[in-house]
Amino acid sequence: PGRRPREVRARDLVKSLLAELLAAAAAMPGVAIASPFRPDVLRGKRCLVTGGTSGIGFEIARQLGLHGATITVMGRREQVAASASAALRAEGIDARHSVGDVRKGDAVAAAVAAAVGPSGRLDVLVNCAAGNFLVPAEALSSNGFRTVMDIDAGGVFNMSRAAFDALKRDGWSESASARTDSALIINISATLQYGATWYQTHASAAKAAIDSVTRSLGLEWGHYGIRVAGIAPGPIRDTAGITKLAPGAEGMEDLIASTVPILRMGEKSDIALTCVWLASSAGTFVTGETVVVDGGAWLFKPPIAPREMIVQMSRGVEKQSRKVGTAVSKL
Ligand code: HXC
Repeated sequence: PGRRPREVRARDLVKSLLAELLAAAAAMPGVAIASPFRPDVLRGKRCLVTGGTSGIGFEIARQLGLHGATITVMGRREQVAASASAALRAEGIDARHSVGDVRKGDAVAAAVAAAVGPSGRLDVLVNCAAGNFLVPAEALSSNGFRTVMDIDAGGVFNMSRAAFDALKRDGWSESASARTDSALIINISATLQYGATWYQTHASAAKAAIDSVTRSLGLEWGHYGIRVAGIAPGPIRDTAGITKLAPGAEGMEDLIASTVPILRMGEKSDIALTCVWLASSAGTFVTGETVVVDGGAWLFKPPIAPREMIVQMSRGVEKQSRKVGTAVSKL
């Protein structure tokens, strides 16, 4: 009541288009992604994954390990860290853990020391540790804002800076023949900060800062044989990003998937296998860039009308405009 009939029609159209997308997403089978890479593609590489004791970080550690790398996972909770490294070892991966907080200098140094082993060398650092919660900006305290900035953006810088000596490749800038095997930092970002996201002022600022650090270190550290890349995951099934930040979303995966252009939610392995690609020789010309791995989710807009209607209408509009001979917009 009170709405103009045209508005009602437009709303009904949008509703039916969304229902169509939802049905299409529901009809999509689950996706199990098998690695296309050789199992020894990362053999000999030493990798440190912060936040690698659970969630996406754990799957990243697992996939790097399953492709031959030696793994150290870092996390704050002793028991969770111990069982994560045990689970990796149970799959035949050479794995250990380091307990600590990426905000604390001694913990950061200890994690790097554990990861490099006697060689003193580190090949891949994955900065995946993050903290987040939903909060309207007017209810967010300065300390809440600072805490997430410190964990996310501060953590990325702290870890990268502490690992610099172990990552840098001697002679890289002096001799072309030394430029064969670069080291890599991967910073796990997000798409929240592209535009704006409700109740995520702190995390959006932190992820934007991470993307900036990725570009700055990419620019400055290529000289030392260190590549720096980011990955921005979209909605990934069975992660804190969904359980903690999209309350009520569990069990509504089809609904979420219907807002992803490729009509499925992401799997943790989508992100982990992107790490394998970046760490392999196929990724060696990538630096300073953040790869969005979200099935196109952040681009999502509902269609303005069904495809068939557009195809028919567009021809009609075209014909009409030629008849009238007008040069103004055809829409
Ligand atoms: C408002 C909150 C709050 C909440 C904490 N704070 N939770 N404010 N609403 N729900 C405030 C506190 O009141 C305090 O401010 C400040 O934040 C610091 O809180 P602490 O609990 O002291 O901090 P700490 O123990 O360091 O814990 C950090 C944390 C916690 C971020 C708050 O949730 C955490 O450790 N999380 C790690 C795991 C996690 O969140 N993973 C999710 C990652 S998902 P005052 O002013 O009171 O002192 C992710 C995905 C991003 O990152 C992309 C999604 C698409």
